[in-house]
Parts: sequence; structure tokens; C-alpha cells
Amino acid sequence: MKARKDMTDSNILDIPKMHREMVKKSAEIGFSMPSDLYVGTLLKTLITSKQKANILELGTGIGLSLSWIIDGMDADSQLTTVDSDPQLIEIAKKNFGHDQRVTIVCTDGTQWIKKYKGAKFDLIFADTWPGKYGEIEEILDMVKLGGFYVIDDMSVQPNWPEGHQQNVDGLVDYLEHREDFNLTKMNWSTGLIIAVRKAAK
Ligand SMILES: C[S@@+](CC[C@H](N)C(=O)[O-])C[C@H]1O[C@@H](n2cnc3c(N)ncnc32)[C@H](O)[C@@H]1O
Repeated sequence: MKARKDMTDSNILDIPKMHREMVKKSAEIGFSMPSDLYVGTLLKTLITSKQKANILELGTGIGLSLSWIIDGMDADSQLTTVDSDPQLIEIAKKNFGHDQRVTIVCTDGTQWIKKYKGAKFDLIFADTWPGKYGEIEEILDMVKLGGFYVIDDMSVQPNWPEGHQQNVDGLVDYLEHREDFNLTKMNWSTGLIIAVRKAAK
């Protein structure tokens, strides 16, 4: 009998051009929370399913996940990304600020969510506290019908503060009981949840 061979999911070929440089930069400045390649390639794939998309990222960092998101966007899509750290935002702006489709905002995510009155989003990647452990109802209200809400770091991470598992369990339970979303939990990458807003029955 032939031995079973899993596909090599770590063999990711479509890494954004700037990615290697940005990983180096993250290490150089001691940025210890970069998104991994898996969530990056997934975001790019999901965004490719949406034309003229309106996209939101909460937690820009220096723009690692942003580089993947941009690679998945068509010419008519637009993206807003928010981070409260001016040093990180400056680097993200240097790398992506020239792209007319991209708005990079340096502000507190909670404030941004509370003030936002614009169009709903085709995809929200919530990669920081606001929009994930805070303001969850407000952020889910911003997801279009058929739109994606994506979060990572849902499996135990070495940098989790004491007691964080309780927050994670609470969030998973909350999302699982939202009747207006279908979701998939994946023990892959750092632990992902992909939720999609469904039509009311
Ligand atoms: C997990 S990292 C984001 C990683 C990024 N997506 C990447 O691909 O490298 C979380 C980010 O949230 C930012 N952050 C922390 N608290 C915030 C807040 N209240 N509002 C906005 N951003 C915040 C941090 O500065 C940090 O860059």
C-alpha cells in the first residue's frame, strides 16, 4: 500500500514582493506580533473572491498582512487599515502610502470603530483588541451580507498574557451563537476563525 502523503501547506509560492524585507524590518525594530504566511495567503485568496471590495484591517503593524491583502485586491477595491502605534504606521505608510486604494490611519481602534459611519465591508481582518475582544457587536454590524470577518491567534500563543484563554473562549462562544453568521474554526496557522454574514431566513 502506498504511504499517505499530506500536501505541503508550508510551501507558499505567492509571497508578496516586499514581504521578506518587511520581516527583516520587524525583527530590526523588535516588532514581535507579525502575522504569519498562512493567514496572509488566506486573506489574499478570500479577497480575490470580491470585486470592487471595501476592506478593513484593524491592527496594521508594519503592514505584513496588509501586503497580502493588497496583493489580493483588484484595481477598484479600497482598503482602510488602522493602528495606534505611530512608529509602525510610519513604516506601513512608507511601504504602501503611495497606493491610492489604501488609507492608513494612525488612531485608537476603539475610537475609529465608534466614529465610523461609512459603507459596510466585504472583509474585515480584526488583528488587535478593538473589533475582536472589544466592540465586537459594532464591528460585526459593519460586515456586508456575504462578507468575511477573519481573526487569528485563537490557538494558544507564547505571548498571551495570563488569563487570556478566558477572553478567547468567550469570543468563540459569542461568535458561535451569532445566528446571522456561519463560521469555520481552523486549528491551522495561529488558530483562525472565518465567519461570513448570512441572509436572514
Ligand atoms: C497582532 S499585531 C498586528 C499585526 C499585523 N496585522 C501584521 O500583519 O504584522 C496588533 C497590532 O495592534 C496594534 N494595536 C494595539 N492596540 C491597539 C488599539 N487600541 N487600536 C489600534 N491598534 C492597536 C499594535 O500596535 C499592533 O501593531
